[in-house]
Amino acid sequence: MRFNIAIDGPSAAGKSTIAKILAKELGYAHLDTGAMYRCVGYYSKLHHVDQKDEDALVAMMKEMEIAFDSDGHVFINQEDVSTEIRQNDISMMASNVSVFPKVRAHLVNLQQKIAANKGYILDGRDIGTVVLPDAEIKIFMVASVEARAKRRYKEYLDKQIEADYDVIYKDIETRDYQDTHRATSPLKKAEDALEIDTSAMSIDEVVIAIQSYISAKL
Ligand code: C5P
Repeated sequence: MRFNIAIDGPSAAGKSTIAKILAKELGYAHLDTGAMYRCVGYYSKLHHVDQKDEDALVAMMKEMEIAFDSDGHVFINQEDVSTEIRQNDISMMASNVSVFPKVRAHLVNLQQKIAANKGYILDGRDIGTVVLPDAEIKIFMVASVEARAKRRYKEYLDKQIEADYDVIYKDIETRDYQDTHRATSPLKKAEDALEIDTSAMSIDEVVIAIQSYISAKL
């Protein structure tokens, strides 16, 4: 039986890294929903669309086709934007545009259509609560701000993206606040989710913990 897995948590908690590994091991597809919000932030910057104007953003989104390939590359209207959407300023823009209910509704609808056939791992902020409330497995990954800032900083250096640790640390704090305090679909743990604090865990340890949870639950 194929099922869906929802992984939620704050930024840089390791959701995408873990989701990718689990997807490979289970033969499932991975959908990084944060990348979709990043696409909206990036495209609005590119086309000078006011990020405070909900209707203008929605009109813009109708001209955007967001797609992924099996290697996790992200495309807007067939153009590869995988690197561009990972820049630090785009993280904050993604968080800014994600407050709008109509922006969210549009992306949630796409996400639900993609995951309808099961066999998906979605990671984001509202997967277990809003996008896939019926997901068979729900994980809520958390980690200290320090652990997350260190990981993100290393990730940027590895990808040769310009990075400043203090800026990353502050941005994570700000995004945590924005993502947990917005009116529509704030980041919160679904009641039936397993919470894992990954601050002191290696990637392998997190994967093993989730795998044993899946085996025990299904
Ligand atoms: O996961 P990532 O850090 O790439 O997400 C970027 C931003 O997109 C988050 O800070 C959050 O504001 C928003 N987001 C969201 N709901 C999701 C995924 C991401 O609001 N399901």
